[in-house]
Amino acid sequence: MVSNFYLPVEVFFGKGATQKVGEVARRFGFKGLIITGRRSSKENGSLQRVLDSLKKNGLQEILIYDKVKPNPTDESVNEAARLAVEEKVDFIVGLGGGSALDAAKAVSIVSSNEGSVWDYVKYPEGARLVPFYNRPVICIPTTSGTGSEVDRYSVISSPMRKEKLVVSHSLNYPKAAVIDPLNTLSMPPELTAITGFDALVHALESLTNRAQNFMAEEYAIKAIGLIARWLPVAVQEPDNLEAREKMSYAAMLAGIAIDHLGVAFIHTLEHPVSAHYPHVAHGAGLAALAPYITQYNYEYNKEKYALFAELMGYGNEAYRAVDALINLIETLGLPKNLKELGVEEGILDRLTEDVYMLSRHSFLVNPREPKELDEIRELYQRAYEGSL
Ligand SMILES: [Fe+2]
Repeated sequence: MVSNFYLPVEVFFGKGATQKVGEVARRFGFKGLIITGRRSSKENGSLQRVLDSLKKNGLQEILIYDKVKPNPTDESVNEAARLAVEEKVDFIVGLGGGSALDAAKAVSIVSSNEGSVWDYVKYPEGARLVPFYNRPVICIPTTSGTGSEVDRYSVISSPMRKEKLVVSHSLNYPKAAVIDPLNTLSMPPELTAITGFDALVHALESLTNRAQNFMAEEYAIKAIGLIARWLPVAVQEPDNLEAREKMSYAAMLAGIAIDHLGVAFIHTLEHPVSAHYPHVAHGAGLAALAPYITQYNYEYNKEKYALFAELMGYGNEAYRAVDALINLIETLGLPKNLKELGVEEGILDRLTEDVYMLSRHSFLVNPREPKELDEIRELYQRAYEGSL
């Protein structure tokens, strides 16, 4: 087996790394656009720290687009891209959780090429357009989960189509990631749990799916051990900087793992859920699905699920992976089933169809390949009712 490793993102990691932003941005030009959410980067001081660093390095012309919401929409990406074109910005800074980072990377693609963001998302048949150029992007995460700061993906929602799809292209990497655990200190426990669980599922799915890459798997393995040890601490002790640092690092490692290996059915089945219910946070949707899908999958890659169970502290048997997830979800107070999230039973048929119409390429990647679409419908039913 031949494995490859490719990571075209310059990573700055550590407490106080935000001070480096200006120095990095200066290489890319003079005028920047910061893409962020409405509130948290202002309230937690990270926006001010970024602006201070940019100004200190002589970058005075900085625009701010602060309308990115969780589950970022095509409309907000297109709007910010128009701003980037009209104002002729040289570089883009994504500051926030996965939504802001995903949006910033997509804004770079759309503002540097023709069309709108929906031309670049991947349907099973591929994307309508191929980008040829991008503006440099610097990603600064304020959560520890997404891994978007080091990968080629942007997950974008279309409220009109009720679809959530991914821009995945080698031009969609940021040029630099500035990962400063201090920026995650203000995350409330619930957000810490939700985003940390996302990172865990990235590591779990990249390790167990049918893609193979022994180098990238090392990153997933390291991430699982760190998350098992430190996520509960970060949730219980929000000011514990060591826990924050370990979680920032684990999320980055898991991001590198999915960049090389991809994800699997927990993500595939989650995307239609938050596409139809935009109030559902990605990580919460993952928690409501993870035990049932792991139960469905584990016998098809016993070795890797046993390794996951062991890294989580549950002994070296594949079926224990399910217990490890159930107990962590309980400890973190995450949703245990789809019903708890407000998903209606009547929509499960539609979610199943969406999986086929939008993501059937993942059937060949998931550890277990479904033979009939009814298997997906059954998984949704089990996750809805909370029955393994
Ligand atoms: Fe994810």
